[in-house]
Amino acid sequence: MIISAPNQTRQNEHRVALTPDAVSSLIADGHTVHIELSAGTAAGYLDEAYVDAGATMVDNPWTADVVAVVNPPTSEARASLRNGAIVVGLLRPLDEPGGIAQLAKTGVTGLAFETLPRITRAQSMDALSSQATAVGYQAVLEAADRLPRFLPMLTTAAGTIRPAKALVLGAGVAGLQAIATARRLGAVVSAFDVRSAAAEQVESLGAKFIEAVTAPQDASTSGGYAKELAADEQAIIVANLAPHITDSDMVISTAQIPGRQAPILITAETVRAMRPGSVIVDTAAATGGNCALTKPGETVVTHGVTIVGDLDLVSRVAGDASQMYARNVTTLLKLALESDPIDLGDEVLAGCAVTHQGKITNERVRAMLEEA
Ligand code: NAI
Repeated sequence: MIISAPNQTRQNEHRVALTPDAVSSLIADGHTVHIELSAGTAAGYLDEAYVDAGATMVDNPWTADVVAVVNPPTSEARASLRNGAIVVGLLRPLDEPGGIAQLAKTGVTGLAFETLPRITRAQSMDALSSQATAVGYQAVLEAADRLPRFLPMLTTAAGTIRPAKALVLGAGVAGLQAIATARRLGAVVSAFDVRSAAAEQVESLGAKFIEAVTAPQDASTSGGYAKELAADEQAIIVANLAPHITDSDMVISTAQIPGRQAPILITAETVRAMRPGSVIVDTAAATGGNCALTKPGETVVTHGVTIVGDLDLVSRVAGDASQMYARNVTTLLKLALESDPIDLGDEVLAGCAVTHQGKITNERVRAMLEEA
């Protein structure tokens, strides 16, 4: 099979879907790998490294048998894909169902990481988790960089500095990594999540779980995700979180509900009550944000509080984010290419296949398109 990786199709994207290590691994399996010129440069992987690994550098990667992408292909790129090809990547099926419909029309098999089942067997293919890890880590560095304070306690001849207080809202993959990173830098960390199962994970990282604001009942779905709360439940949480937010120097918010707008957890009034110099890094900015004053893609300062709505946190650690992503891609591809056509009887492949043989194979995407 010819497996390819294109250059970035989105502005400010620095990741690449295949690294030189991934190329070596695919070539060892007997495949041919085509990499678009300069595709890895922004992530620190030069064309020479790909050539050394055995790849061929090409101008047009879109006609390969399998195309590994980071973001959904543009409509122009989708039109170049050949009937029967496989496209694997973060295809945003619930955000851009129209693009998925076009893939089906072209006869392309779309494997989307967003719908990969979060089961133990699929952990090594879980790109949502690997990329969320990078986001959680980077969010803390961005906050630390903007905070006019040290994070750890410092005892010096010039006096004692108290440690910074960090609050993490949403303790999924990104949130847990943010907790671990803030702790490593010496901050005193507390966290909140609507899923009661998160409490033990938060505490195992040495952070305090905020109990007082737990929802009336546990808000987990059977898949382990959070469910959308009723307006009155959400209002209680928002009110009870406010004193914890205003007592924090940095807030990293990561609360998300798949396929929905992010819940607002920090109101404009709460921001006004925060200490000047405090920082909020809102990693949910792409889905509206957890802070009412977040401007997606921008950093704003309101009442002395810096609110970071950066949509490209993951690209600031593009080298390692790409390395993890490329491992997710190769592990999923190795499974998918065991049979031709791919085996939709396999739970993992059935979960992530959003299109196959001209059909949309994901029920939620189909329902969204029918509703539209
Ligand atoms: P996500 O990115 O969808 O959401 C982030 C966090 O926001 C979640 O923990 C969610 O509970 C929380 N949240 C949603 N609404 C909230 C609100 N109103 N207030 C506070 N927090 C709120 O979640 P992510 O990181 O993708 O993880 C989802 C689940 O999947 C978790 O239970 C995680 O442990 C599980 N998981 C399981 C894996 C496996 O292989 N078994 C791998 C990765 C994640």
